Amino acid sequence: MSTRRPLIAGNWKMNGLRADGLALAEGVVARRKAERGIPCDVLVCPPFTLIADVARIAAGSDVAVGGQDCHAKVSGAHTGDTAAAMLKDAGCGYAIVGHSERRADHGETDAVVKAKAAAAHQAGLVAIVCVGETLAQRDAGQTMDVNRTQLRGSLPDGANAANTVIAYEPVWAIGTGRVATPEQAQEVHAVIRAELAARLGAAEADAMRILYGGSMKPDNAKALLALPDVDGGLIGGASLKAEDFWAIAKACG
Ligand code: 13P
Repeated sequence: MSTRRPLIAGNWKMNGLRADGLALAEGVVARRKAERGIPCDVLVCPPFTLIADVARIAAGSDVAVGGQDCHAKVSGAHTGDTAAAMLKDAGCGYAIVGHSERRADHGETDAVVKAKAAAAHQAGLVAIVCVGETLAQRDAGQTMDVNRTQLRGSLPDGANAANTVIAYEPVWAIGTGRVATPEQAQEVHAVIRAELAARLGAAEADAMRILYGGSMKPDNAKALLALPDVDGGLIGGASLKAEDFWAIAKACG
């Protein structure tokens, strides 16, 4: 029986103009205020343009705010990028790093992800470090190797259960409606935890949260969240409706 408190995190990706995004944030905050007893932490990661406003809406509630990426450097000539300290300054407590969409769209390597996670730590943010195999890699029997290698390469020195969350997101399950079975998810989460234990020691590995992401929905969340090594969800599509996102949070209860 795990003592880890689940984290239910919404990754809004590149969705939401002000009207919709702020209404969504208000919907999540209102539900959290009404049902504080649900035993999970709640996080929303809006697009950069909405972070400051969402942070104002979430202030004083139990809803944390995060960025979807950060730059590895503290400041400087990096047009279009956002430093971890800027996220912190805007009200964030978390930064997602190494999402498969950034690895694919922006060519982010494990080394880049590691530097970004270190920058997040430096700024006082919790880094959510994402790993996950493609369908071709799964079909080739490389799932465990791929996830171990990504984790080894992406986790910075100084990572611990307080400043780092891992997200296992099989690429083939993201936005496809094809969710990992509980057996598939648990198998990889257990391998990730073993890898964390080898790197950080058993106590830190036991305390670190490992989220599942990839087509998590209200109707499949309970079975996934009940697994021994699944400590929450990183939710894309279903986080864009407060009602669905909250239904997933309630599956922790
Ligand atoms: P979906 O929930 O839309 O599959 O997205 C998962 C994800 O990529 C969260 O980061």
